[in-house]
Amino acid sequence: MALSQKHLLGIKNITAGDIEQIFTTADNFKEVINRPIKKVPSLRDITIANIFFENSTRTRLSFELAEKRLSADVINFSASSSSVKKGETLLDTVNNILAMKVDMVVMRHASPGAPHFLSRHIGASIINAGDGTHEHPTQALLDTYSIRERLGEVAGKKVAIIGDILHSRVAISNIFALQKLGAEVMVCGPLTLMPRHIADLGVRVELDVQKALEWCDVANILRIQLERQQIKYFPSLREYALYYGINKARLDRLNKEIVIMHPGPINRGVELDSDVADSGHSIILDQVENGVAVRMAVLYLLANR
Ligand code: CP
Repeated sequence: MALSQKHLLGIKNITAGDIEQIFTTADNFKEVINRPIKKVPSLRDITIANIFFENSTRTRLSFELAEKRLSADVINFSASSSSVKKGETLLDTVNNILAMKVDMVVMRHASPGAPHFLSRHIGASIINAGDGTHEHPTQALLDTYSIRERLGEVAGKKVAIIGDILHSRVAISNIFALQKLGAEVMVCGPLTLMPRHIADLGVRVELDVQKALEWCDVANILRIQLERQQIKYFPSLREYALYYGINKARLDRLNKEIVIMHPGPINRGVELDSDVADSGHSIILDQVENGVAVRMAVLYLLANR
């Protein structure tokens, strides 16, 4: 079976069947990357460009490792050290990279819709590695894969996404992925960090973080994205931590155990305390490990389409 799309631009326009197929393929690759010899020849002769116009640690390294585990040829481009600084346009930059016979492009950009724009102008398959506040599809895939791994299935589970919903591409992609897989979704955070029409996506909206924790099986905690905040949405980080930070005292008040997730990078002591982030409730490093297998699956399925 093939994916329904040539590109992975977002979770909104892929099917539940696509996600299940990515998960099944990722199961096989997870077994591969835990072998002594972690490499397979699946993408030999395929060249992939990772083009990052915005900072990244996890996504960039995870894609590069996934590509190398599949034996692809890999080139990396970082806008901060490129001719973008001399005024070259996005399309010129990408067309120059493609002239070097590149088959697939993994792209992160600060502008929502940048990978969609490219997909209308170039022939190569594009994977969106995060476009501004819009979508981060492979993050949602690895998040839902990690829930499936920890809880057996995603369908029927209650997932609360807590934090800076307004600026979060992770929240939007997770909402689409969780709903396609049959989970119930709640978003929780200060009203100032809540998109005005978020309830139209069919999610519950909760302003009280303790109530959100009581409701959910899984809490996916989001980073406060200060770099995207042009105005003050709350008085201080200290006050945010007081009202919305997830700490051991809050979890101890629950009469059940919940799974704690975070896409990273964590602002420790703000949205999440270390005694929770590093506890047995947390699957944060499982998310990172699963990211490689899930990205191998996406690359493999798109390349073989
Ligand atoms: N989760 C995530 O996208 O992290 P990076 O910004 O480090 O890639």
